[in-house]
Amino acid sequence: MDGFGCVILAAGKGTRFFSDTPKVLHDLHGKPVLQHVLDTAKSAGFVRPVVVIGHRSGEVERFLEGQAAVPVVQRMQLGTGDAVKAAKRQLSKYRDIAVLYGDVPLVKKETLRSLVSSHKASGASCTVLTVDMEDPSGYGRIVRGRFGGNVEAIVEEKEAAAEEKKIREINVGLYCFDRGDLFSAIKKIRRSKIKKEYYLTDAVAILISEGKRVRAFKTGDPDESIGMNSRSDLANAYSIISRRKSAELNKGSVTVLDPSTTFISQDAKIGRDTVIYPFTVIEKGVTVGKRCSIGPFCRLRPGTVIGDGAEVGNFVEIVRTKVGEGAKAKHLTYLGDAVVGRGANIGCGTITANYDGRKKSGTVIGDKAFIGSGTVLVAPVKVGGGAITGAGSVVLKNKNVPAHKVAVGVPARILSKSKNKKGKR
Ligand code: UD1
Ligand code: CA
Repeated sequence: MDGFGCVILAAGKGTRFFSDTPKVLHDLHGKPVLQHVLDTAKSAGFVRPVVVIGHRSGEVERFLEGQAAVPVVQRMQLGTGDAVKAAKRQLSKYRDIAVLYGDVPLVKKETLRSLVSSHKASGASCTVLTVDMEDPSGYGRIVRGRFGGNVEAIVEEKEAAAEEKKIREINVGLYCFDRGDLFSAIKKIRRSKIKKEYYLTDAVAILISEGKRVRAFKTGDPDESIGMNSRSDLANAYSIISRRKSAELNKGSVTVLDPSTTFISQDAKIGRDTVIYPFTVIEKGVTVGKRCSIGPFCRLRPGTVIGDGAEVGNFVEIVRTKVGEGAKAKHLTYLGDAVVGRGANIGCGTITANYDGRKKSGTVIGDKAFIGSGTVLVAPVKVGGGAITGAGSVVLKNKNVPAHKVAVGVPARILSKSKNKKGKR
């Protein structure tokens, strides 16, 4: 990306979010909306994007700390044209600039890359990413010359005439500009009639009036182009990401039976021939092995690693836990901060009581242990390999159950006889 700079606009208020948290910091599948945009910029080759911040800038700046990004403050939120102007100095070393909006998180890196290549190849003054939307309301419309010809202007919904509102081709909020042309056009932008803002989109008509070449680069996927203007946009984005992930898994070696009720984080890793049943949530950073059965109604939270051939059934929640190969937790169970051995059976209603009100502690369950229904394991505690706990027992903290022993009752006591090899007492 030699000579190509990148600026991300993230200073706006997000009025339609009615939130105390800056809009761009709202969570979308385990990471803030703005992080999605930063990740896309970085994977398209922009090493240190400039990020324009303003509304609650302290919080956004803290979020950017430690990231390869250059924050720039826009003092007053006077519009997207003014926001780019605020970054003029930080962008001065580049020949061309990609402008991204911090509230448009689903654009694929391939799309950004193609836009940049097309801009470079054409040598245009400005290349705008556009898409046809079923329902274009709220977006800037792309006004073309007669017979679908060249782009003439971008008209914001609030300022659009009735005829213009019918246009379905919209401005995604992603552009490449020749830097010199961009800043000379920005100087000429006037406040809009209705919103009284300096619209970056007005730079398009200004450049054209000066004989510069502006091109539209159209993508085919309206899903990647939605802006996060309200919480319902965020909800829509959440299910789009989930659907993308499920579709990707179903195209490969994992079965996701009901993508419409299954929510799997983009970065979750799931092994071959695993089947995911409906109403399952698999969060950030989870790893599931091969040939597993997951769900229905199951939630795997961060830090979960499920071994090959394990079965995790309905109403099971697992967090920061490693479940060994072939282990089973099939019903109504909470496993937190635990290590479950290979082939262990976690009975219905088992709870690892990992939090004592002050700190969290771990539970270790050995290979082939058999945890009876309704057992509460008060952490820190260990149940040895091949050991058994009786139904309804409460194993108190540090009262470890030795391997192959049987613990029963409340509080659990260890029976003197070990179980025999077949697992029977
Ligand atoms: C904008 C576009 C519209 C496009 C849509 C795509 C303009 C004028 N309009 O409309 O054509 O279809 O995005 O989603 O650009 N921001 C600042 N400083 C400001 C104002 C905004 O940094 O003073 C940032 C916001 O944080 C946001 C982005 O710019 O990330 C876009 O602003 P927003 O107000 O959401 O514009 P839209 O009305 O959605
Ligand atoms: Ca927006």
